[in-house]
Amino acid sequence: MLAIAPLAALAALFFTVRAQIPGNCDRTATVQSGDTCDGISAAQNVSTFQLAHVNPGIDAGCDNLQPGEVLCLGTAGEDCSTVHTVQSGDSCAAIADGAGIPVATLLHNNPNVDPACDNIGIGEVLCTTDVLINYT
Ligand SMILES: *[C@@H]1O[C@H](CO)[C@@H](O)[C@H](O)[C@H]1NC(C)=O
Repeated sequence: MLAIAPLAALAALFFTVRAQIPGNCDRTATVQSGDTCDGISAAQNVSTFQLAHVNPGIDAGCDNLQPGEVLCLGTAGEDCSTVHTVQSGDSCAAIADGAGIPVATLLHNNPNVDPACDNIGIGEVLCTTDVLINYT
């Protein structure tokens, strides 16, 4: 038991130091205990894709978030803060229609979504701005 706290502190320090916040970061959030990538995305108005794109240290399953870790939410010129959280029964056509944007814009701004839109998941956060964002 006693060994856990120092280890956690060391781990927190390691991950705080490890996190690479881009110099052109627009906004940040600090990971809280129990946070998930989808939860942070929904609360902070950032797409699931963008959060992962800006923070390459997050693993594919989003299993390695550390409380205290500072994440960048978006970088200048590539920061979509107009979002929709996927609900049961949603389709790209319905989401695009609800946002008043073409499906092509939705797909462009969410490069993780395949053209058939059959790989979106409940709780996933999609960028729904009408501005085309070219993620680099
Ligand atoms: C997220 O967007 C909603 C809708 O525009 C807004 O009401 C809310 O304040 C935003 N939250 C943050 C953290 O920016």
